[in-house]
Amino acid sequence: MKIHHVALILLALACTPARADDALYRQFGETQGLTRIVDDMYDTVLADPRTAPYFDNAPVRRIKQKLVEQFCVLLDGPCVYTGRPMRRTHEGQNIDRAAFNALVEDLQAAMDKNGVPFHAQNKLLARLAPMYRDVQDRE
Ligand code: HEM
Repeated sequence: MKIHHVALILLALACTPARADDALYRQFGETQGLTRIVDDMYDTVLADPRTAPYFDNAPVRRIKQKLVEQFCVLLDGPCVYTGRPMRRTHEGQNIDRAAFNALVEDLQAAMDKNGVPFHAQNKLLARLAPMYRDVQDRE
């Protein structure tokens, strides 16, 4: 094999990412950063009169763990979501647009607090927005 063939193969290997591009996931501080963001988000959600009543009897520790996994997947991170499907989890809870928007605002505040760049915040919000149709019970 000619020397420049070897060089090309090495170049190709060096350019092959170990997995899909996880730059976005890294902008959130990976699992450690996501854990802090979800903790802060839930401190607010549980104090916010627009969202708190929904979580009266909810397993908050579990929800936070599953949410970290889910955000990680949405951000192209190296995680697997092990929670229940969104529609089945939320059906019958009477979640409307106002409750959804309130929860998203609380997430935004948590991302701000943890220094997530604005364009990265918008990427996550854009990926969450279509999930409204799965968690909502009415318009
Ligand atoms: C895109 C928006 C949302 C996402 C991604 C999301 C995600 C999740 C996840 C991952 C779980 C845990 C699933 C499991 O236990 O396996 C969960 C549970 C729950 N979520 Fe959401 N959620 C969203 C919006 C909302 C909103 C707007 C509310 C109410 C204001 C809400 C209230 C709840 C409650 C009460 C539970 C616990 C249900 C139970 O265990 O009986 N969620 N959510």
